[in-house]
Amino acid sequence: MGTAVEVRDLKAWFGKTEALHGINMSVESNHATAVIGPSGCGKSTFIRCLNRMHETNPEAKAEGEVRIGGMDVYDVPAVDVRRRVGMVFQKPNPFPTMSIYDNVAAGLKLNGTRNRTTLDDCVERSLQQAALWEEVKDVLKKKSGASLSGGQQQRLCIARALAVNPEVLLMDEPASALDPISTAKIEDLIFELKQKLTIVIVTHNMQQASRVAEYTGFFLMGNLVEFDKTEKIFTNPSDKRTEDYITGRFG
Ligand SMILES: Nc1ncnc2c1ncn2[C@@H]1O[C@H](COP(=O)(O)OP(=O)(O)OP(=O)(O)O)[C@@H](O)[C@H]1O
Ligand SMILES: [Mg+2]
Repeated sequence: MGTAVEVRDLKAWFGKTEALHGINMSVESNHATAVIGPSGCGKSTFIRCLNRMHETNPEAKAEGEVRIGGMDVYDVPAVDVRRRVGMVFQKPNPFPTMSIYDNVAAGLKLNGTRNRTTLDDCVERSLQQAALWEEVKDVLKKKSGASLSGGQQQRLCIARALAVNPEVLLMDEPASALDPISTAKIEDLIFELKQKLTIVIVTHNMQQASRVAEYTGFFLMGNLVEFDKTEKIFTNPSDKRTEDYITGRFG
């Protein structure tokens, strides 16, 4: 299968404060990797460094190596990185006034695609992959992104990310604002999506991590304490700090 994302000695700062202290991780292709740990440990910062979102904050900087495919993420223009590495956030953020269709087509249009059939096909395929097509196919151009329910908005954001065919999808607590049914839909989706891309998902929900992810990394205070098969992390962790966290004695 191989490695989709190779992270070497990654450090990140907000101003003078070092938030990540040298992270090393190999993310396996076509699998899901969960990132867990207590609030403030650096989970969001870590995944935001993988597609150079971190540096959109003027105070922020990062150092180290992130390789995706053959690409050194910090050696190419950030737009190229973000085209290949999609991201979904905790709070669904569709373009509120744009139609469902335009939300999904936005990335392709930005990349210069104008052909109507190409756009139509891509919008349908992406909404199918995000398990939203059946619910919206009759109102694609009539309804706005903001008019959907929270769970539908999150699937719309996933469709928008998928439309540009990313190799890696980063998800930062994608289901934490959703009801159990929408959460189950997102989890099913992760299962399907792994066939064609690699997923890194931040979650506070340990059951969710064990359901969706083959690998799990436990972060604590800006360090990756332990990284292993999910089953190992949750049943027989090597580090006492991981054990304390997963058994609820910490955080
Ligand atoms: N915009 C920011 N400016 C300054 N410091 C920040 C900023 N965002 C995060 N930090 C700091 O960086 C550290 C890591 O934060 P991060 O958001 O990555 O944690 P997290 O593990 O995602 O937490 P949570 O589970 O609450 O989302 C924390 O100490 C936090 O206070
Ligand atoms: Mg976070």
